[in-house]
Amino acid sequence: MEIVVGISGASGSILAIKLLENLSKTKTAEIRAIVSKDAENIMKYETGYGVEYVRDLVDRLYPNDDLSADIASGTHKFDAMVIVPCSMSTVAKIACGIADNLITRTAAVALKERRKLILVPRETPLSTIALKRLYELSSAGAIILPPMPAFYLKQSTLEEVAEYIAGKILDQLGIEHRLYRPYAP
Ligand SMILES: Cc1cc2nc3c(=O)[nH]c(=O)nc-3n(C[C@H](O)[C@H](O)[C@H](O)COP(=O)(O)O)c2cc1C
Repeated sequence: MEIVVGISGASGSILAIKLLENLSKTKTAEIRAIVSKDAENIMKYETGYGVEYVRDLVDRLYPNDDLSADIASGTHKFDAMVIVPCSMSTVAKIACGIADNLITRTAAVALKERRKLILVPRETPLSTIALKRLYELSSAGAIILPPMPAFYLKQSTLEEVAEYIAGKILDQLGIEHRLYRPYAP
């Protein structure tokens, strides 16, 4: 299994870190990653991690401006793409078919080839424009997985919430994990 993880410039880079740490630990898939310039800055600000940490966790890290990368072509058969966190700018570009960087181009490939595309959009509140774009992407086959805490699980730290969201992404990828305990009243 080959998974592409795109990290764009929305808040919540800890979600990408938690996902990549677990994918790297379970070794169930080959992981390729792309980090946008804004994501790189936000990740450093929010978590202290630089792009070198991401490079250590994945099999291959691509520059976001490398539109000649293998994954930019439909002939390269990755199984799924996750964009986490996904900015509203990246949401809007993908919904409109704009493929001006490797993250948006690879997402366009995922949609046209009918492969799994999981988007973790982070913004609040959501504008009507963002909601329309997310609806269009859902209609086109993308899975929209907003990073919402499950309050009923009574998680007490941000770390636990981030692990829960990473676990929900792994659920969609069909990869087993122990990142959250299921609801058991
Ligand atoms: C600290 C910080 C936090 C941000 N958080 C968000 C966010 O949560 N959602 C969002 O859509 N944009 C957010 N932005 C704005 C995006 O970074 C900006 O729109 C950027 O162009 C996104 O580019 P990219 O999607 O190519 O990474 C944030 C910017 C900064 C500096």
